[in-house]
Amino acid sequence: MSTSNFNKKLNNRPVGFFDSGVGGLSVYARFKKSLPCEDTLYFGDLAHLPYGDKTREQLVGYAREILNFYKSKKVKAVVIACNTSSAQAYDVIKDEYDFKIYPIIQSCAKVISTLGDSKIGVFATQATVDSGVYTRELKKYNPELEVREIACPRWVNTVETGKLDDEVNILDVKKHLDEMNGFRPDRIILGCTHYPYLMRVLERFAPKDLFTDPAEIFVEFIKKDLGERALLTEKGTEGKEQIFVSANPENFVQHSKIFYDVKTLPELIRLR
Ligand code: DGL
Repeated sequence: MSTSNFNKKLNNRPVGFFDSGVGGLSVYARFKKSLPCEDTLYFGDLAHLPYGDKTREQLVGYAREILNFYKSKKVKAVVIACNTSSAQAYDVIKDEYDFKIYPIIQSCAKVISTLGDSKIGVFATQATVDSGVYTRELKKYNPELEVREIACPRWVNTVETGKLDDEVNILDVKKHLDEMNGFRPDRIILGCTHYPYLMRVLERFAPKDLFTDPAEIFVEFIKKDLGERALLTEKGTEGKEQIFVSANPENFVQHSKIFYDVKTLPELIRLR
């Protein structure tokens, strides 16, 4: 079979996304806007939330379960809309599947590292910081860059519970910003897909344009790559979507609102 005939069979298949919770919707929402005709699936692994304090072995296990589920759904590609899983699981599982897998950190590093900065700060989960993948990936394309990664262990919970106006949570955001300020970064990457939800708190203490949400760069990368692989859908109508969670569907809907309008209750899938 020629490559183009082969791809014709694949290109109307769905694209799967996953994250530990609502965070990946910051990527998903942009993708839906940019490629509205694609059929999409989203998996929020709320049973294992937060990913940021899990071991590499656990994170590899969760990624495999979700990727196996997506394999059964006959996806053409999977987007790891989660920095922690991209940092800890991607390099282990990347060759185990016959569909394309897009990890957020590795897909965005080239563009971000060549934006003309000297110093880049990264706010991320503990597991992402421990992996050192942001520093390695950014310096791979620009060895002169200075990178400082700071873990913000409470921020995912702040977002998932929606308690953005609680004094303790606001002070915790300020504490990490003060810590980062000592490094004098030209740019701060929001290196966890939950963190863009905190923008209205972050911008109380620092200029908005200091922060980079990699989601936009990521979606452009995926769009270009799917195009180059002749994997974009040929359909001209609005894509279908299905949302799955491994726990708490009601919580997911309630806390997803800032980024994406989830219209129906997600389907509960127990992977183990
Ligand atoms: N939103 C994910 C990330 O980008 C995971 C956060 C977590 O569950 O700790 O890292």
